Amino acid sequence: MTSVPAPIDATQTASWHALQRHFDDMRRSFTLRGAFEANPRRAEQLSFEVNDLLFDLSKNLATGETLSLLADLGRAVGLEERRSAMFSGQIINTTEDRAVLHTALRRPASDAGKVMVRGQDVVADVHDVLARMYAFAEKVRSGRWTGVTGKGIEHVLSIGIGGSDLGPVMAYEALKPYADAGIDCTYVSNIDPNDIAEKTRHLDAETTLVIVVSKTFTTLETLVNARAAKRWLLSELRASGAIDGTEESAAQAIAQHFVAVSTALDKVAEFGIDPRNAFGFWSWVGGRYSVDSAVGLSLVIALGPDRFAELLRGFHDMDVYFCETPLERNAVALMGLLNVWYVNFHHAKSHVVLPYCQYLHRFPAYLQQLTMESNGKTVRWDGTPATSDTGEIFWGEPGTNGQHAFYQLIHQGTQLVPADFIAFANTAHAAMDGEQDVHELFLGNFLAQTKALAFGKTADEVRAEGTPEWMVPARVFAGNKPSTSIFGQALTPHALGELIALYEHVTFVEGTVWGIDSYDQWGVELGKQLAGEITPAFHDDAALDLQDPSTKLLIGYYREHRE
Ligand code: F6P
Repeated sequence: MTSVPAPIDATQTASWHALQRHFDDMRRSFTLRGAFEANPRRAEQLSFEVNDLLFDLSKNLATGETLSLLADLGRAVGLEERRSAMFSGQIINTTEDRAVLHTALRRPASDAGKVMVRGQDVVADVHDVLARMYAFAEKVRSGRWTGVTGKGIEHVLSIGIGGSDLGPVMAYEALKPYADAGIDCTYVSNIDPNDIAEKTRHLDAETTLVIVVSKTFTTLETLVNARAAKRWLLSELRASGAIDGTEESAAQAIAQHFVAVSTALDKVAEFGIDPRNAFGFWSWVGGRYSVDSAVGLSLVIALGPDRFAELLRGFHDMDVYFCETPLERNAVALMGLLNVWYVNFHHAKSHVVLPYCQYLHRFPAYLQQLTMESNGKTVRWDGTPATSDTGEIFWGEPGTNGQHAFYQLIHQGTQLVPADFIAFANTAHAAMDGEQDVHELFLGNFLAQTKALAFGKTADEVRAEGTPEWMVPARVFAGNKPSTSIFGQALTPHALGELIALYEHVTFVEGTVWGIDSYDQWGVELGKQLAGEITPAFHDDAALDLQDPSTKLLIGYYREHRE
């Protein structure tokens, strides 16, 4: 056990009790309509410009006093101290006995020597790997790195799962307009063979580079898919006559078409990938916090080193803001603390993220791992039970698709679902529909939704539209549904870096209040272990005998129907 101070039980602090009293008062009288009417400067007072993003917190169920009490709670649980401990490389991931230093991945080279872990200069190490990644990516982008037939690379097939997939695929989708080298990326994650079958269908093996991404290089899905990719590549190359059937030509093809990203370079070599074609990272980078490490190699290839460096600057700028801004005015810390407010006082169970930007269509899925694998826990970092509800179910879809699907429940359902809206003033593809700027039409929807959620529509307003009395209740919108709006100038690499770092820190803030080690993930282990025990039972009666009745029943069905 490391020497991290025991978590402070938030529920026993004076700030928590003050928040409870404040909540009880607000419940009696607070409405967003009333708050905006009473204070014409509310929007201004509760919004924050952070680099190239504007955070509007004014449509939250909060007053200036709420934010100040939440900041007190942050101080009471030692948020600032734990933040310093994390950024300086102390071993705060207690159950894995590791430092938590994703923030070192985006520090400038001039910070070399500032963060040491067990005697190692982590910033210097980060920049060594970045330099290798950038040099490799330039070779691929310029056509100097070729496949076995001498053709340049046009496709990257990236194989990984969880943090070794969700971050890169989300960022690749988000930054597609910046992919300028004629190289596309395809991501395979699921062990379901249909995933790789469908995704390799359009690829030309001669011009494909496979990147196998796995922190541990032991993950079943990734190794199975990497072997499938090897078989696919070799059989395609043999079929086209690009290589012959010899071991040597296969090895040459693997050397030119396969690279790896991992912390376990010995296992990369065992798999048959030349360690010279491997890019390392470190145990102090959690999988779901790793998109800005070598895990982002596909991005460096598709977007180029300059764009990737801009992405890293976005992350770093958000880190600096998070560290240097007093909690009361720190939009990042406040977003995390407001989430605590909704989970622990309003008893919200889920949190919806609604990007009004099609390029962010994988952002909610990315956030699901980031937030839920981090904070879905019942035990605190010293092994004692959590003392309050923890975790939130993050979900979402890009607007306006969500509007025609699940917004009904957010507007008129019985659950409180705090929402984060994300939109940008500029778009990559401007379009006119007649005289109408389509981006303005899109943004009009974003603003309309936040307004409808906050202010609703009263029975009198519904009646005034001539609605028959019996139908009035169905058409009333209660309002008072909280949302935060994040409005940026454009979805640049810099802005994306800021957004990712924002949610990393929001997750950290919530985890700190709950006393959780947000950097371990023991909850994924049991399923992996049981899958290993169950799989033989599909064909082995002795293994089937060991299973529970429900598993036996389902396997019986399988045996009966599998053709
Ligand atoms: O599912 C658990 C997990 O360990 C994630 O935390 C991680 O991102 C993912 O598996 C992939 O792990 P690896 O990068 O080691 O293959």
